Amino acid sequence: MSDGDVSECVRNDDVSCWVSNGDIGRCGLGKGEIIYKSRGTPPGSPTEKTCRCVVPSGSNMNALASPNKVLVTDLASVVKSVPSNFIRPISDRPNLTPVLRASSIPLIDLQGLDGPHHSSLVQHIGEACKSDGFFLVKNHGIPENVVNNMLRVAREFFRLPESERLKDYSDDPSKAIRLSTSFNIKTEKVANWRDFLRLHCYPLEDYVNEWPAFPPDFRKEVAEYCTRVRRLALRLLEAISESLGLDSGYINKSVGEHGQHMALNYYPPCPEPDLTYGLPGHTDHNLITILLQDDVPGLQILRNGQWTAINPIPNTFIVNIGDQMQVLSNDRYKSVIHRAVVNCSKERISIPTFYCPAPQSLIAPAPELVDHPHKPALYTKFTYNEYYREFWNRGLTTNNCLDLFRLAPT
Ligand code: OGA
Ligand code: NI
Repeated sequence: MSDGDVSECVRNDDVSCWVSNGDIGRCGLGKGEIIYKSRGTPPGSPTEKTCRCVVPSGSNMNALASPNKVLVTDLASVVKSVPSNFIRPISDRPNLTPVLRASSIPLIDLQGLDGPHHSSLVQHIGEACKSDGFFLVKNHGIPENVVNNMLRVAREFFRLPESERLKDYSDDPSKAIRLSTSFNIKTEKVANWRDFLRLHCYPLEDYVNEWPAFPPDFRKEVAEYCTRVRRLALRLLEAISESLGLDSGYINKSVGEHGQHMALNYYPPCPEPDLTYGLPGHTDHNLITILLQDDVPGLQILRNGQWTAINPIPNTFIVNIGDQMQVLSNDRYKSVIHRAVVNCSKERISIPTFYCPAPQSLIAPAPELVDHPHKPALYTKFTYNEYYREFWNRGLTTNNCLDLFRLAPT
């Protein structure tokens, strides 16, 4: 085999790979690092090619394998390149350069929501849900110090010693409180550059005493934050209900004794951010999400077929429509695909609050939004529990979990 030759892959599967000018490269889909002898170019270059890998006999497959770390937070501090189990195939990499900035994502001032501007704000919110699926809110009523304390205890949690953090580790998605990594390591083929602490937080008294006890003010600050975010979610759901022409209490009533989950996402700096994701493209499975991000960019949404960054604006939250709202609104409002990319210099924290229907509540398009034969119901009835299980079992794939519950056109 000479340099540049397409060589034979001993694994008998096509893999995308690249090499810098040398003998050692990595396979896009490989589990271990694979040593091979063809010469290529860095990812993204116009001459990049798909080659096939060969493992020379006698080579040590584990020579460049990733250090044995459970959490990416700890891995990131010891590696200078991204281990191969994090590397996406060439066709599925972030392509960080051509991303647009979402200057036109609606920014809604909630100041007047309970005053004389109520109906114009409701209309504004409705338009944002319909055309963008994402919007920003300011004057949302959550004090700055509550938000800053939330971000501080999240940061302090991820800086605890590895042994302390690992006490909360679990890869079982049904657990109400757990620290984990990537998305769902049981189902995914490629890992993501993210650790996360997932907390159920409503009813608060059922969970707060199970939350991490360190840093010492963690429970107090997170409890304060999530109580206030719940109030904001309830106000937004009333406004969204009204914007659909429904009674303001309709959504809150139809989802039963709702759940509130939070994720504290921690994305450590990544040595090669163009090879992997913090979170690959997905829609949120819940009703609405209220996202707090620190001052480091990373969130992108798919808009008109293009990845568009929503960069941080101080004192605002990002609100997005989840899959259940899309069903309830019979597709008037869209659950939009979004993702998180990482960068090589700064850690990033984002804290989504997922407002969820009760597990047993029946989800279906609101009868007022169904009108045979002009606007038939687009989804079958299901319980949120069924949906939740399906979502976690399939992993994050770009074909939407919603399609499993969509009715065939008649
Ligand atoms: C999520 C999510 C985006 C971000 O956790 O579902 O979309 O910016 N996070 O971290
Ligand atoms: Ni999301």
